[in-house]
Amino acid sequence: MSGAARFDFTGSVVLVTGGSDGIGLAIARAFQRTGAEVTITGTRAAPADYDHPLDGLRYQKLLVEDCASVREVVAAQQRLDVLVNCAGMTLREREHEQEGFEHVVQVNLSGSNCAARAAFPLLRDTGGCVVNIASMSSYFGWPRTPAYGASKTAIISLTKSLASAWAKDGVRVNAIAPGFIATKLTARVREDEQLAATILGRTPAGRFGEPDEIAGAALWLSSAAAAFVTGVTVPVDGGFAASGL
Ligand SMILES: NC(=O)c1ccc[n+]([C@@H]2O[C@H](COP(=O)([O-])OP(=O)(O)OC[C@H]3O[C@@H](n4cnc5c(N)ncnc54)[C@H](OP(=O)(O)O)[C@@H]3O)[C@@H](O)[C@H]2O)c1
Repeated sequence: MSGAARFDFTGSVVLVTGGSDGIGLAIARAFQRTGAEVTITGTRAAPADYDHPLDGLRYQKLLVEDCASVREVVAAQQRLDVLVNCAGMTLREREHEQEGFEHVVQVNLSGSNCAARAAFPLLRDTGGCVVNIASMSSYFGWPRTPAYGASKTAIISLTKSLASAWAKDGVRVNAIAPGFIATKLTARVREDEQLAATILGRTPAGRFGEPDEIAGAALWLSSAAAAFVTGVTVPVDGGFAASGL
């Protein structure tokens, strides 16, 4: 199949937490290409601290586990059409310790909740929307990352609850559940030959996805084409969730 879907976000203002790298950066670039004014956040002090270009994007340092800072970053927006809650991380085996567990839930789940709530008044003004990022870990268990999985399962529930609460105000809330995507988050998994082969062996598409391949779903969910879509989580996973093997 060929041909890129066309979206026009001219005049829209988009905030992507965790937009400094990986999936968030691909989503930010997709919104930028379609005309939006985009602010991204990352954990480092300045855009120059990254080894890849972040040109044309407004940048804010933000640790999403700090809800007061999240509120400040959102409050600095004069207008907001789309909030993409993409900031996320794993502590792997350290998630089996209570401290590690709580930190990951704080970042992945509470951070998304805090940002969505801070953004709500601005989104109500524009009839805007939230796009959360779930995971295959929302549906399946992984022995190493109990907090990552719990936080990502809860993202689906949070998405449904906020969508139900805010539909009357014209604010839609949806999520994307990516499969295994080639980013720094999955670097160790992809380098582990045995684990990578196991994952690809049960991925019907037979490959890891690219960050750009998540962006289309974010554009669609944020567009007028999805005006009656709220509370859903869309898997973009090369068939991983559909496969029985
Ligand atoms: N890659 C996958 O296969 C996959 C699959 C399912 C879901 N996801 C989800 O997709 C989202 C993006 O992940 P990715 O794969 O693109 O990983 P990534 O390349 O590591 O990007 C993660 C982003 O989150 C930011 N971040 C990390 N910790 C943060 C914190 N405490 N506060 C604020 N920002 C923080 C990072 O900032 P820095 O750049 O400064 O580190 C970066 O912008 C995450 O929610 C992840 O759980 C990824």
